[in-house]
Amino acid sequence: MANKQLVCALLWVLALIGSIIEHGEAASDFVKADGTSFAVNGESFYPNGFNAYWLMSKGSKPSEMDKVSRALCQASSYGMTVVRTWAFKDGGYRPLQSSPGVYNEDMFKGLDFVISEAKKYGLRLILSMVNNFKGKRQYVEWAKQRGENLTSEDDFYTNYLVKTFYRNHVKTILLRNNTKTGVVYKDDPSIMAWELMNEGRCKSDLSGRTMQAWIEEMAGYVKAIDRNHLLEVGLEGFFGGLDQDQEAIQYDPFASSRNVGSDFISNNQIHGIDFATIHLYPNLWIPHADDATQLSFLRDWIHSHSNAADEILRKPLLVTEFGKTSRFAGCNGVDKVAFYRTAYAVIYKLIRARSACAGGLFWQLLLPGMENLSDGYEIILSDCPSIANIIFRHSRLISSLNGPSLRGLTSTYQ
Ligand SMILES: *[C@@H]1O[C@H](CO)[C@@H](O)[C@H](O)[C@H]1NC(C)=O
Ligand SMILES: *[C@@H]1O[C@H](CO)[C@@H](O)[C@H](O)[C@H]1NC(C)=O
Ligand SMILES: *[C@@H]1O[C@H](CO)[C@@H](O)[C@H](O)[C@H]1NC(C)=O
Repeated sequence: MANKQLVCALLWVLALIGSIIEHGEAASDFVKADGTSFAVNGESFYPNGFNAYWLMSKGSKPSEMDKVSRALCQASSYGMTVVRTWAFKDGGYRPLQSSPGVYNEDMFKGLDFVISEAKKYGLRLILSMVNNFKGKRQYVEWAKQRGENLTSEDDFYTNYLVKTFYRNHVKTILLRNNTKTGVVYKDDPSIMAWELMNEGRCKSDLSGRTMQAWIEEMAGYVKAIDRNHLLEVGLEGFFGGLDQDQEAIQYDPFASSRNVGSDFISNNQIHGIDFATIHLYPNLWIPHADDATQLSFLRDWIHSHSNAADEILRKPLLVTEFGKTSRFAGCNGVDKVAFYRTAYAVIYKLIRARSACAGGLFWQLLLPGMENLSDGYEIILSDCPSIANIIFRHSRLISSLNGPSLRGLTSTYQ
């Protein structure tokens, strides 16, 4: 392992020298949405990378912060350009926010470190502000402890005190002055985008109006503080609710996905939402389908949303999570390898066709020795040679489509 670290560090030094000589400093301009594409200072940018929700937690522990550097270095050496991670940890063990407005400085410094390391390795970040699952429940619990009479987790979207807590968290993140870089988060171009909420759902109002109103309000709030960064909702992509487009609805993976209270079209049409997102988990969503059916769902799911983003939203689309557990052989199972090959082939084809789909981020990257965070979806690059190779080749292809100063730090790799 010591060897691998050394190799990554060495590669990075070589790459950085190459990059500085050729292109000057990384990430000096904000990513913008231009029609259905992304651009940085007028150059094309196709976001390509991975999810690693654990970065802040590891980054806050002196004994484990090297994991952050190693993961980002490794991703960068593969040619990846974007990492999506959590800018929240609400209550519980080692929280970022231990109670409303009370922050753990060690954790915040961990997030500072993640951002400064991402910048160092030429990666941009997508930072999510709260989680639908535990986070929503925690915020409602906090309001109950202060005397609010709340009965449902979905009161998150409507209760004035909960909304005050959430807005306060957003503001605290946006105005944080990074202790490692001295740059306030809202002014930092190495952050590509903010995400309102990971996988937001509101099952108590299937009309979709509750989530629509919350997104409108919070998008306005973010934009009032920060006009530089892109903003996305964090949706999985289910149609329904406010959306009466039957043609689109036919692509929903299961009947009840129309009953989660979110609405891909209407939610993403909101002013202030700069690009649309989908997640993609065929073996979770259609578990009894055979491999061929899952792959055909994969194609339909990405195509239907890319078409909607082109024709209705006129905004870019990013596949912000895709992943698969294997029925056998872990990450070397032929079904998992085929899933990765197909997902990247579909994304690449849509990019070449100048469709709204502009890239994908796989779920999730771990390092050797982090098996206790295993969820069956993880990719440990050194343990998964077939998928690692697919990711590497895709990243090279995508890098070559980016503008000259956005090709990642890979020019000297290999
Ligand atoms: C709390 O709200 C519920 C439902 O709205 C209501 O039935 C109940 O009476 C309320 N309790 C108090 C103490 O206000
Ligand atoms: C952020 O911190 C740096 C370093 O301490 C300081 O130079 C800079 O002025 C601060 N920025 C703001 C907006 O306070
Ligand atoms: C995973 O292992 C690390 C040490 O390697 C430990 O700090 C952490 O608490 C473990 N997490 C879980 C969920 O067991």
